[in-house]
Amino acid sequence: MTRSAENSDAPVPTLSPLDRARAAAGVLLPSVIKGAIIRRPAGVSLVARLGADTLSVKELQRLSRRHGTGPVQFSMFGRRLAFVLEPADAKRVLDETPSPFSPATLEKRAALGHFQPANSLISTPEERAARRPFNDRVLESTSQTHSHASAMATAVEEEIDALLGHVDFVGELDWDAFSTAWWRMVRRIVLGDAARDDEQITDDLRRLRERGNWAYLAPVRARLRGRFLRRVQHYIDRAEPGSLAEVVARTPASPGTEPAQQVPQWLFAFDAAAWATFRALLLLTEHRGAVDRARDEATDAPSLPFVRATVLESLRLWPTTPLVLREATEPTVWSNGALDAKTSVVIFAPYFHRDDRRADWAHVFSPELWLDARDRDSGGDETGQPDGTEHLGESLALVPFSGGTGVCPGRNVVLLTASLVLSRLVAGHDFSSVHPLRTTHLPGSLSPFTTRFTARRSERTRAVPETSTTGPGGSPGTR
Ligand code: HEM
Repeated sequence: MTRSAENSDAPVPTLSPLDRARAAAGVLLPSVIKGAIIRRPAGVSLVARLGADTLSVKELQRLSRRHGTGPVQFSMFGRRLAFVLEPADAKRVLDETPSPFSPATLEKRAALGHFQPANSLISTPEERAARRPFNDRVLESTSQTHSHASAMATAVEEEIDALLGHVDFVGELDWDAFSTAWWRMVRRIVLGDAARDDEQITDDLRRLRERGNWAYLAPVRARLRGRFLRRVQHYIDRAEPGSLAEVVARTPASPGTEPAQQVPQWLFAFDAAAWATFRALLLLTEHRGAVDRARDEATDAPSLPFVRATVLESLRLWPTTPLVLREATEPTVWSNGALDAKTSVVIFAPYFHRDDRRADWAHVFSPELWLDARDRDSGGDETGQPDGTEHLGESLALVPFSGGTGVCPGRNVVLLTASLVLSRLVAGHDFSSVHPLRTTHLPGSLSPFTTRFTARRSERTRAVPETSTTGPGGSPGTR
């Protein structure tokens, strides 16, 4: 048992039945309605209409006022859960991963097992010891610019230029056109150019993820999963130069690594990056001067600090992994008592990211937050890694990519590709949101699926980088 409390034998405070119902309905239910593994657009719209994301944060603020520092716990469906309510406790949980706080919770194992049962995130500590470093090596997790950055940039340029051709034709940009171009780009970056039009592989993954939303309530589709994983292996065997599949093929893997089962997490997680990028486009276009600032730095690509900070702001304001879950492998002691082994410890990211009691910038676009952190933090990147959750993480628990030893190893690949996409989009086009944002107090929810822009070629175009090679054509607006 680690840490000490004034009375380490006393349990952490337990919620009353009424508070338990409010926490379950107010904080956990919206994530179930939206879909944890694949978003249901209707669920996302419903949660936005009900203002449920804002209410979730208020509910946890109320619990923290009532119970003071330290976590609170409650039981649900035979499981014991605890919310951490202090940034220092969130940091502790992330720093002490995977032991005593394992990322491989029962719920995650059931949900992700539908398509990647041997993935690092849901592995035992012994299996994880081989799988997590493999992810770090292939994704070059501590480097802001992956060694395949130029191949990634080519995929971005070609797919975004094809998308802009479609935008010029129809005069607007909607989610369907954006996501079609996005997935062509992702398949090229992860699997190779040959996979650009392989919609079957991402459709198979989508169907498996739909099962994942039901976790252990839905049986595994073993044949579909087998077909999907064989297709992933096919691209690894092909090892197309410039793709992540090629890095997988040449990276030494110790026994038990299961390289092909690490790749689905990357494809799956690029979905979240699409929502974050589309919302970031909205942040850029809705804030005076932001597009000009993005255009001004375009000549320095792939280093795009302001656009990168905008993507991080999109993830702070609307975290794509709202529930960061850990399962205690042993009893743990906190400032206000003890938690049993097997308790699921919940870090609810929006509570920390939108805590207007601690930060006056909670509900406004604040890219300087990340730019300042980057200036201060010479050792890691602006998420405070790899040196632990420094600066931002420590005092505020801004955890869009989680933190500590379980931090997202793809964060730098995501920030690189997302910022290249945004920079390319705004370089020569003016976008205007069909549904303007209230920028003085940004909403708690923002559905990317209903976000839509009118668009036209800009008269004030700056620095549109030349496309380096010609590649596969085709309009992203057509499937
Ligand atoms: C906006 C996009 C993304 C966000 C916000 C994000 C966030 C996260 C978070 C919060 C976790 C921790 C999950 C947990 O502890 O349960 C995680 C894990 C992970 N992410 Fe990402 N991610 C993104 C995209 C990506 C991409 C594109 C890749 C790969 C190219 C990637 C690779 C991974 C891997 C392999 C893990 C598991 C790490 C482990 O086993 O410890 N992520 N990500």
